[in-house]
Formats: sequence, structure tokens, C-alpha cells
Amino acid sequence: MAIEETFAIIKPDAVKAGHTGPIIAAIEENGFRIKNMKKVHLTRAQAEGFYYVHRERGFFGELTEFMSSAPCVVMILEKDNAILAWRDLMGPTNPAQGEPHHLRKRFGQSIGENATHGSDAPDTAAFEKAYFFSCFERI
Ligand code: CMP
Repeated sequence: MAIEETFAIIKPDAVKAGHTGPIIAAIEENGFRIKNMKKVHLTRAQAEGFYYVHRERGFFGELTEFMSSAPCVVMILEKDNAILAWRDLMGPTNPAQGEPHHLRKRFGQSIGENATHGSDAPDTAAFEKAYFFSCFERI
């Protein structure tokens, strides 16, 4: 196992519903170190840039409208095998398919409003971390 970083978002639905605290608690209880964290309200263009890999998908408009609708919390998390570990803690993209301990099952409403995001691979983690945190902010 190797120490790794991943990028995570607490999405607007979960922030609006007051789930930021419980999600951060679950992150720390599961052994992640929060290296960087801030609350941001994305513009539509910033959301489109972040999710550009999905630009051809039918849900792109809905996704970027939702992600720019209200503030979210963005984080860099560190742990052994953090990318996979964070995805395991979030559970499936569709909250309905998760198990009771999964964050998306606990706090998500639907496949679109699913409470959290996480990088899916080292290259996307590198892009996503740099999208939100400059080298001067990195701890
Ligand atoms: P996320 O991990 O943020 O990565 C891309 C997001 O697109 C995903 O979580 C979902 O919230 C969203 N998404 C995926 N499929 C759909 C869909 N069919 N309809 C709406 N949003 C979707």
C-alpha cells in the first residue's frame, strides 16, 4: 500500500441539507487526512470545465446546472490507496444501489444529487486537485 491523495467534493445537495459535518466526521473516522478544504460556489463555466470529460453525455446540462446551483465543499484527502478508499466509502454513483454505510446512500437523493464526488484514477485526481487548489495553497 502507498500513501496517495484524492480529490473529493461535498456536493450542493449535501451542503444545503446540513450534511457537511457528518460527512467530514465519516472521512476522518475512516482514516483520511484532510490536506486541503474550502467552500466554493462554482459558476456554470467552472462546473463545465471540471466535468468536461462528460460534455457529450445527456446529463451534462443537468449536472453542471446542479453543481453551480449552490456552494459545495472541495477537499484533498490523503490515505493509503486514497482514490479507491474514498470511492469505497462513497459507494455507487446511484445512491439507491449502495449499502447503509455508504455516504451516497446515507446522504444522496438520486444519481444526479448524490452528495459526494471522488476522483476515479490518478490522472483525474491530479487534474481535479489542480483545478481547485494552487501549489501555493497546498499543505
Ligand atoms: P460524480 O462522481 O460527480 O461524476 C459525474 C456525475 O454525473 C456523477 O457523480 C453523477 O452525479 C452524475 N451523473 C451520472 N449519471 C447521471 C445521470 N444519468 N443523470 C444525471 N447525472 C448523472
